[in-house]
Amino acid sequence: MSEFLQVDRRDDGVVWVTLNRPEARNALSMALNLELYDLGAELEGDSDLRLVVITGAGDKAFSAGADLKERKGVSASETGPYVNAIGNAINQWSKIRALTVALMNGSAFGGGLELALACDLRILVEGAELGLTEVRLGIMPGAGGTVRLPRLIGEARAKEMILLGRRISAQRAYEIGLVNAVVPRERLAAEMESLLAELAGCAPLSVRAAKTSVERALEVGVEEGLTIEGQCYETTLYSDDRNEGLAAFAEGRKPQYSGR
Ligand code: COA
Repeated sequence: MSEFLQVDRRDDGVVWVTLNRPEARNALSMALNLELYDLGAELEGDSDLRLVVITGAGDKAFSAGADLKERKGVSASETGPYVNAIGNAINQWSKIRALTVALMNGSAFGGGLELALACDLRILVEGAELGLTEVRLGIMPGAGGTVRLPRLIGEARAKEMILLGRRISAQRAYEIGLVNAVVPRERLAAEMESLLAELAGCAPLSVRAAKTSVERALEVGVEEGLTIEGQCYETTLYSDDRNEGLAAFAEGRKPQYSGR
């Protein structure tokens, strides 16, 4: 039973997760992080899943990051579990094998942006701002921000954001490849539905294998990356969905993928 996460499992293999602390701009409290970790662990290997969408309640923020009010009452020597909880939750989120999308209904800072960085795709609402603002708070990103952001947008742009704690506009975030799309609020749901329709034409096993390949290959040299790609490819080769894909193409119809 989740108190701070609203979880909606749909029959079509889609799970909608909502960070549900709008009064605190969906800040990541200890309790919320523990729920996020448990849910991530539950979803990680679920082979029936096609898509996990994470969004925030309200229209102000996707997430304002670590719960700074909760942290204020914690001494330096007691911070460890708090920092670990947010880092573990976000890292666990990155381990989900199905496609993950951050549907960013508002601004995201600190851990809120780090959570979005742990997703495969980010769709951001117009007018929102993003930032890893930790250096302005006397700390630094500690839930993957310094690791994932440079990989996504390059060292120079990442340093500009991280070392200056700069807040950037949605438009700028799109221009530097930090988010995949920026859409008006009234089009957020439609954007997600259209992505879902697109995903319906993709074989689930192929999506997972390709995701694994991209992620693992990013961490190694080209030769090793090609070996990893070959291994991931192999997992699709003897699947029912490969036969279905080829048959549907030959018959000029839409494929019906089973995920097997
Ligand atoms: N932790 C705990 N509470 C937070 C919070 C956080 N990270 N961010 C916002 N809140 C709380 C505010 O204290 C306020 O509480 P109150 O109503 O009891 O006073 C409430 O959420 C609303 O915040 P407010 O700033 O009035 O909302 P807003 O819509 O005008 O602005 C933000 C939203 C996210 C732009 C702004 O709150 C903000 O910049 N937050 C800090 C983000 C940040 O730097 N995070 C880094 C974490 S490492």
